[in-house]
Amino acid sequence: MADQKATNITWHEGHVERADRNKLLRQQGATIWFTGLSACGKSTIAFTLEHALVERSHLAYVLDGDNVRHGLNKNLGFSPADREENIRRIGEVSKLFADAGVLTCTSFISPYRADRDKAREIHEADGLPFIEVYVKASVELCEQRDPKGLYKKARAGEIPEFTGISAPYEEPLKAEIVLETEQLSPQEAAQQVLDYLAQKGLLPNT
Ligand code: ADX
Repeated sequence: MADQKATNITWHEGHVERADRNKLLRQQGATIWFTGLSACGKSTIAFTLEHALVERSHLAYVLDGDNVRHGLNKNLGFSPADREENIRRIGEVSKLFADAGVLTCTSFISPYRADRDKAREIHEADGLPFIEVYVKASVELCEQRDPKGLYKKARAGEIPEFTGISAPYEEPLKAEIVLETEQLSPQEAAQQVLDYLAQKGLLPNT
């Protein structure tokens, strides 16, 4: 948990309400939180979904683990404390994006249940939909795919604390959506999420 360090700060209420932004964008913001092992297909599915949403005239944006670690979170590594901070920041950033009205797709391993639950909690406390999507693939399959050669390096002892090999991954217990990637193409997986969003009324006018 991050402590509140700053004192003498006051919340400043804006003049534009969330409902005004939603009207402007003709949609409501939400966070679609993809979680799963490295190489499970999170980012491919998240970017496929973003593309499909934009094609349907919805504003969507992907916050991707590897990408965000090049900028905002470049000062974080892979210790449990750094991963917690990584996810805390993305929980907050995705909440801001969702408040702005964006269909926000986050793609982070986010291995700890408590950290994902915290991200959910802050969304729900602010009346913003949070949809946890478990991109399910066994360690064996991810290791077989190994598109970046990281599992090979981790097995050789060249990457410490590698998720699934030498660091834990806590499976979601109550994900809204479970994508069985061993049986689904990225397009089919993205379609499953689209169907869920439509069913929840999050894709008006399409
Ligand atoms: S998280 O655990 O803090 O959520 P995040 O999704 O941001 O991780 O970053 C994971 C990506 O960093 C992986 O897809 C992989 O490319 C890279 N990576 C580098 N070192 C590690 C490691 N020790 N464990 C997992 N992923 C790593």
